[in-house]
Amino acid sequence: MTIQKNISLLPYNTFHIDVNASSFISVKSADELDNILTSQGKEPVLILGGGSNVLLTKNVESLVLKIDLIGIDEVKEEASHIYVRAGAGEIWHEFVQYTMKRNWGGLENLSLIPGNVGAAPIQNIGAYGVELKDVFFELEAYDRKEKKVYAFGVNDCKFGYRDSIFKSAEKGRYIILNVTFLLSKVPVLKTSYGAIREELKKMGVQSPTIQDISRAVIKIRRSKLPDPAEIGNAGSFFKNPVVDHTLFLSLSKKYPDIPAYPHEDKSVKLAAGWLIEQCGWKGYRKGDAGVHANQALVLVNYGKASGLEILQLSEKIAQSVHKKFGVYLEREVNVI
Ligand code: FAD
Ligand code: EPU
Repeated sequence: MTIQKNISLLPYNTFHIDVNASSFISVKSADELDNILTSQGKEPVLILGGGSNVLLTKNVESLVLKIDLIGIDEVKEEASHIYVRAGAGEIWHEFVQYTMKRNWGGLENLSLIPGNVGAAPIQNIGAYGVELKDVFFELEAYDRKEKKVYAFGVNDCKFGYRDSIFKSAEKGRYIILNVTFLLSKVPVLKTSYGAIREELKKMGVQSPTIQDISRAVIKIRRSKLPDPAEIGNAGSFFKNPVVDHTLFLSLSKKYPDIPAYPHEDKSVKLAAGWLIEQCGWKGYRKGDAGVHANQALVLVNYGKASGLEILQLSEKIAQSVHKKFGVYLEREVNVI
């Protein structure tokens, strides 16, 4: 275990923000983590996975722990299912490809999401009609308060839309060590998302396999979302806002084309990208901070923007959306 001092976090965040960390450790085992945190006491630490959902706005004075626990194990096999455990430091898309190669279904719709396995439960990652909770069995996490490792089942995690106990009520308390997935040996295809059906048609696929769905999702994502290797970004900057039916009715009278999707408890989910585009922000750029030209929900760093510049831009966007539509945008990205 090596403590690196005063290092740049530029290679460790997909927004490509250049701030320094006063100390940084790559953690490779649960024992190592326990040793570090026992000596660290109650001082705050910053946990990092792939850095694809953080916006760093200042130099980080607290210890940065990059969670690099790896390993994939088949825990249990049944006639139609398999339980697979992956270390928190496994790269998400590589893990998805590992399961695709073995014909285990469940993760195909979640192909090409950046980041690591350990962060996937934090905001219950989701895309193209599937959320992590749909394929989740359990996880193990180190409790900083009790200094013990606990197992969490699906109900313990309190998964919601881009949310879990780890992102809200118990933020910062637990460090996820590994996640066990319940995957299907008899594929159950989820093609309800219109874009997937259209892409499969374009590909000339009539009876899709899980691998076809994965390929379709990868194509859609590549056509819509900027590649962080080329332009700094963290995916959707805001969550899609959930509003009550009364507000939705008054908005849809004024804006008959407003995209909307039914959500739980008689509420309606709106498309933040559409709201932001209607306010004229799509393709906006000031200095190196901007709004992506193909997807208004994605804020981008064209080069040397600071985290603060991106944050200030996001605040202006949220204010203008509120002024025009009376809708609050909540950040999805974790601002540090
Ligand atoms: P990080 O950014 O490193 O961390 C995110 C948060 O989790 C931080 O608060 C961090 O402290 C905490 N954390 C990380 N690891 C651990 C751990 N082991 N234990 C405890 N806390 C931890 N998200 C979606 O849901 N759906 C999408 O379709 C999607 N598309 C994206 C597309 C692009 C181009 C990009 C750049 C991002 C996208 N995202 C999407 C967001 C992001 O990929 C996910 O949120 C991903 O799970 C973040 O993983 P990470 O390892 O990079 O987490
Ligand atoms: N739209 C616009 N203008 C835009 C962008 C979108 O009008 O600039 C409209 C689209 O036309 C469409 C609607 O908004 O009618 C939804 O757009 P899209 O299908 O691109 O999806 P999204 O709601 O913007 C969400 C997730 C993505 C996820 C995709 C696919 C959130 C916050 N974002 O995006 O997740 O990949 O659906 O499921 O829920 C992420 O979380 O980082 C992320 C990228």
